[in-house]
Amino acid sequence: MSDALWNDLETLCRSCRNCPLGKTRTNLVFGTGNRNADLLFVGEAPGQAEDEQGIPFVGAAGKLLDRYLFAVDIPRESVYIANILKCRPPRNRDPLPEEEDACIGYLREQVRLIQPKIIVCLGRISAMRLIRPDYRITREHGQFVRKGGYLMTAVYHPAALLRDGSKKEDMLLDFERIKEQLDLLRAQH
Ligand code: URA
Repeated sequence: MSDALWNDLETLCRSCRNCPLGKTRTNLVFGTGNRNADLLFVGEAPGQAEDEQGIPFVGAAGKLLDRYLFAVDIPRESVYIANILKCRPPRNRDPLPEEEDACIGYLREQVRLIQPKIIVCLGRISAMRLIRPDYRITREHGQFVRKGGYLMTAVYHPAALLRDGSKKEDMLLDFERIKEQLDLLRAQH
């Protein structure tokens, strides 16, 4: 049943022309991982490596994300990973508001199907879209909020850590808190 819903959704995304990016991308980057995940990570948009492979977070930023997951003992296969946009913006520019508007419904459907316990926004753009338009990642990263029935938090985008290594300590602390929250929520059920 739910396999059919997933397949329908992916087929819909594959033929989507709600914005021009469907024409310029190489591959759709639909999302990957455990469809029954307790943890959903949402990044911004596919980069070059993701566009080439059709899988989110497989480039340099993705390798760094893998290291944080490993550090707190969360297997990558146990989580689901998606983006606000499913197609790569040219030259990795920030998503345009109208591209986000055109694409966000697909992510909402994925959230409804997965029903994660925690949604983790990877970076400012995702947090501004999913938590609050005026979200300040530097000030608020690692804090948990409840929204729409989901526990949500945001961490720095792994690509930001590649540019500024001083954020790495905070990133590890945030991942440790995510793991703690996850263990707590799992213990309650
Ligand atoms: N950055 C993102 O936000 N998403 C990806 O999938 C890769 C890099």
